[in-house]
Amino acid sequence: MSNTAIIGLQWGDEGKGKIVDFLSDRFNSVVRFQGGHNAGHTIKVENKTFKLSLLPSGIVSNKFCVIGSGVVVDPIALFNEIEKISLAGIEINPQKLAIADNCCLILSIHRELDQLLEAKKGDKKIGTTGRGIGPAYEDKVGRRAIRICDLYDDKILINRLENLLFYHNLLRQSLGSQPVSVDQIMSEISPIRQKLISFSRSSFEITNQLESSGNIMFEGAQGALLDITFGSYPYVTSSNTIAGQISLGCGLGVDKIDKTIGVLKAYTTRVGSGPFPTELTDKIGEFLRIEGNEIGTVTGRDRRCGWFDAVLVSQVIKLCAVKEVALTKIDVLDKLDKIKICVAYKIDGKIFNYFPQDISLWDKIEPVFIEIDGWQSSTIGIQSLDEMPKLARDYIAKIEELCKVKATIISTGPKRNETIIL
Ligand code: GDP
Ligand code: IMO
Ligand code: MG
Repeated sequence: MSNTAIIGLQWGDEGKGKIVDFLSDRFNSVVRFQGGHNAGHTIKVENKTFKLSLLPSGIVSNKFCVIGSGVVVDPIALFNEIEKISLAGIEINPQKLAIADNCCLILSIHRELDQLLEAKKGDKKIGTTGRGIGPAYEDKVGRRAIRICDLYDDKILINRLENLLFYHNLLRQSLGSQPVSVDQIMSEISPIRQKLISFSRSSFEITNQLESSGNIMFEGAQGALLDITFGSYPYVTSSNTIAGQISLGCGLGVDKIDKTIGVLKAYTTRVGSGPFPTELTDKIGEFLRIEGNEIGTVTGRDRRCGWFDAVLVSQVIKLCAVKEVALTKIDVLDKLDKIKICVAYKIDGKIFNYFPQDISLWDKIEPVFIEIDGWQSSTIGIQSLDEMPKLARDYIAKIEELCKVKATIISTGPKRNETIIL
């Protein structure tokens, strides 16, 4: 296989983890290039379930894995995850996992700030995962973040922490929180400092290793609609999630990304606040949530559910230059007698074929739907297109036609083998 990216094309939780794991065998390495442990990627192999947040999903099939420079790393969460995965029988060592030395750290001050600000916002909150992702990326852009390479030298680390805490303590004071001392952060970092250093490698060394081994898979986190620039701002995450971020997030040239496969859920979900034109708050929404087990992996929150939105998806397919998609969770629709797809928006009587950035228009969006007959038979675990009911194939073909894309993988269940490859 050529170097391939796997990117979520909705508001996250499309089933990226399952698809990355399914394809892992064909690649030499798996690279995360943005986000942090706000991601929750579930992988089911036979009777085992793995829930990964920061570790690339290729770890399950023993691939060389990289946490690239664009990722924000909470070292405590990372080592908890490593311990959990090791207990499940997967050995993780610095030969199997490399973390770029210029990754920025998430510390307790970031988690606290994230949660405190969300609580103060009341019903205006974003509904973040509370993992400190936003504050950590703010510090990166503010040039005060602690990077892994700052851990190598005591004097530099103390100096960098003083600089960081000068800012954070001003902020904490204004929010009524106690100031934090350099010693406090040092004692937080100390128990894991050497361990983290042992996994860290120069980002240039990592790039060279990836280039020479080839066959790289880039694993996206979140989804294109949560992109900080092109998503439903401000109800987004704090990183760029679209394919354009890959090169920035791991240091490989743009010409090294040969192909981008988008992952699409056969309907739409989102966690947290923000616009959702095709949301279903009725019993069909409830049906999708229960049938699709739509409960957040990271926060345990119920995911909001709705019909497939071809307007939003067509838009991000262009943004990510996607030609192929993996369509997941088609089996969740098995029992429905009618299924809708949103093909346009009507706003003040005018037809829109894109999601407007202008917030004042959001409440006025009336989705225009087409209705399709459901297949009302089980597709769970089907492994070939021939076994797929005709009406289910028609539904897939309709999505392909509306989004101008080819479905080359169809997922019919959470397990690795419950997959059709075309
Ligand atoms: P990710 O964040 O994109 O990796 O997705 P999540 O793992 O958060 O959520 C997807 C959920 O759907 C997980 O529980 C998967 O095990 C499950 N899943 C993935 N593909 C399928 C599928 O085709 N059918 C069903 N029923 N479940 C699936
Ligand atoms: P995966 O990789 C779904 C959402 C949060 C919130 C917003 C901002 O599993 O698809 P943040 O903590 O990032 O500042 O929260 O983004 N969010 C996700 N939703 N799947 C994810 O990741 C998400 N990561 C963040 O719910 O609305
Ligand atoms: Mg998820």
